[in-house]
This record gives sequence, structure tokens and C-alpha cells, in this order.
Amino acid sequence: MSKKILVTGGTGYIGSHTVVQLLNNDYSVLILDNLSNSKKEVLNRIKQISGKSPEFIQGDILDSDLLRKIFSENKIDAVIHFAGLKAVGESETEPLKYYKNNVSGSICLFEEMLQANVTKLIFSSSATVYGDPGYAKCAENTPLNPQSNYGNTKKVIEEIITAIPGAQKDFRFGILRYFNPVGANPSGLIGEDPNGIPNNLVPYISQVASGKLSKLNVWGNDYPTPDGTGKRDYIHVEDLAAGHLAALKKLDQNDGSFTVNIGTGNSYSVLEVIKAFEKASGKKIEFQIGPRRSGDVAECYADPSLAKEILGWSA
Ligand code: NAD
Ligand code: UFG
Repeated sequence: MSKKILVTGGTGYIGSHTVVQLLNNDYSVLILDNLSNSKKEVLNRIKQISGKSPEFIQGDILDSDLLRKIFSENKIDAVIHFAGLKAVGESETEPLKYYKNNVSGSICLFEEMLQANVTKLIFSSSATVYGDPGYAKCAENTPLNPQSNYGNTKKVIEEIITAIPGAQKDFRFGILRYFNPVGANPSGLIGEDPNGIPNNLVPYISQVASGKLSKLNVWGNDYPTPDGTGKRDYIHVEDLAAGHLAALKKLDQNDGSFTVNIGTGNSYSVLEVIKAFEKASGKKIEFQIGPRRSGDVAECYADPSLAKEILGWSA
């Protein structure tokens, strides 16, 4: 019988790509998502791509009764926890919404996992926990210094997760610190489809290319980088999804817990991303140079060596 994975936030951007790979690798999948930032149509798309249907429950990770029901009615082997709010700017203007949804929601989930004796967890953390360390290449031992409430929710949840084995010694976790996820399943049926005006570079460029937005604002060209624009470690979402399968396999080996960067180890500037997008799409991307965006660093990329060593995974 195939192992059943509970995927919170599984209709979202990274979740949906990971669900496809889980189904393709003969896991069975139960998605719990409140659809606050995704659409039910994603389920049809997942079926079109994989030929299989995940189970779906529309609900909230803050709903302890629902979680208890899910864990009592299903034999869950492991939880992959994507559900969360992720808009950095909004987390500054609505801090309690972020702490409640991300931190309280995670606590509800972990409580019910322990109650049901589900002891394997993979958590979506972020490179944003490193903040601005004063250098570009971040290894996992870089001090954590998030610069936003969003980033702080990730740091706090990491701390909570690492404390859990004190209560349940069999508990094992994989904390994955993603760098900048981009791209989509080659079918084009699923991808990044944010509500409203995108905050992130690649969905913004995509909407300029499709004519939905007129031009990109490049946030600053006076950084100490070769062309003056910010450099990031853009990782393809399919590689990122594969990182979750590698993490799941590692947890199955009963060989302890881990916190690893999930990035490529390379960084590209905003202008390089624009050029690459123009080349691939054949469309001109109009842009103008604007001021720096508050909270941005000049350059940030992963030291991905620990993930390679522990998980045998690389982008
Ligand atoms: P997403 O918004 O596309 O997916 C998150 C999903 O969680 C959505 O479908 C949303 O409806 C759901 N959700 C939110 N709160 C919920 C709740 N209380 N109960 C149930 N469902 C809820 O985001 P994504 O880009 O796929 O990100 C997935 C995870 O990865 C998030 O935790 C995010 O913080 C983290 N992450 C994302 C990035 C990125 O740039 N995309 C980078 C680093 C980390
Ligand atoms: N940028 C622009 N114009 C835009 C959007 C972005 O010039 O309209 C620039 C930014 O200044 C930055 C680069 O493009 O130099 C990437 O910006 P993103 O907003 O796409 O990504 P960030 O690195 O700021 O942050 C993202 C997520 C965070 C996550 C982080 C690391 O938003 O949640 O990656 O994983 F934590």
C-alpha cells in the first residue's frame, strides 16, 4: 500500500508541483488547503498532469478539530507543511494575521500530529531567515536575522519544530530553506498565479510579457553588483519539488533530522533575468529603474553543499 502524505497548502504554487511529483512516485496524497491563495481548479490540473487525483479537504490548519478528524480517519505517514502566508510587505502592515496564520496554525498542526503519533515533518522555511548577514553566500550556520514579520514567523516555526523532539523522541523533521522559487511544470497547466499585483520578480515579468502589466520597476541599480541590480538564487520549482521527495526519503531512513538550504548556489541579477526571459519568450520586457526597495539585500545565494551531502539532492 502506498504511503499517504498530508500536504498542507498543496494547491499553492510550490505545493501543487510537489503533489505532482509525489503522485508520480506512487505516494498517495491528501491536500489540506483553505484556498486563501490558490484555486480548486489546480486539482483538475494536477490530475491532467499526473493522471491521478489527490484527495482534497478545503479547510484551515488553525482548525484543530478538523486536523484531529483528518489524522484519525487517515493513516498519515508524513506531513509536508507548505500552508502559510508569504507576502513580506503585508506581514509588516498585518503582523497579527501573519503570526496567527503561520505560527499558531503550525502549532495546531504539530499538536495534532503528535496526538496522532505522526512523527515525520517537512517544513517550508525560507532564505529570508538569514536577513542581511553582510555576505552573499549563505550556509545553514549563517546567523538568523530575519528583517520582516514574515521572515520572523519562519524563524519562530523553525525554533518550535526543533523543540518538539524534547516531547516526542521519535519526531523527525526536515526544515528546507528555499531560495527564490521560479518556473512551472513544463505542461504550463500549473504555475505561479498570485492574486493581485505580484511582489516577486518572475511573476511580475511574466505579466509584463503577457501584456497584463505595462512595465517592470527594477528596484535599484546602485547595488555593489556588476550591473548594479540585486542578485538572487533562482531555483526551478521542479527542482525544489524534487528536494521534498529527497527529504522524505531521508526521513524514512530514520537517520535524524536536518535543516538544509534548497538553492542552486548561483545568483543572477534582475537585468540578467529580464534578458533571459526575453530570449526564452521572444517578448520585449519594458522596464524602468526605480529606487531600492526597503529590506532588499544586494546579493543572496545558497551554499547548497549540505543538501547534496545529506539528501543526495542538487538543483
Ligand atoms: P502559495 O501561497 O502559493 O501556497 C500556500 C498555500 O497555503 C495556498 O494554497 C494557501 O491557500 C494555503 N494556506 C495559507 N494559509 C492556510 C491555512 N491557514 N490553512 C490552510 N491553507 C492555507 O505559496 P508558495 O509559494 O507555494 O509557498 C509555499 C510555502 O513555501 C509557504 O510556507 C511559503 O512561505 C514558503 N516559501 C515560499 C517562497 C516563495 O518565494 N514562493 C520562498 C520561501 C519559502
Ligand atoms: N525586483 C524588482 N522588481 C520587482 C520585483 C523584484 O526589481 O518588481 C527585484 C528585487 O529588488 C530583488 C529581486 O528582484 O533584487 C528578487 O525579488 P523577489 O521579490 O522576487 O524575491 P526576494 O529575494 O525579495 O524574496 C523572495 C520571497 C521571499 C523569500 C525570498 C528567499 O519573496 O518570501 O525570496 O526565498 F523569503
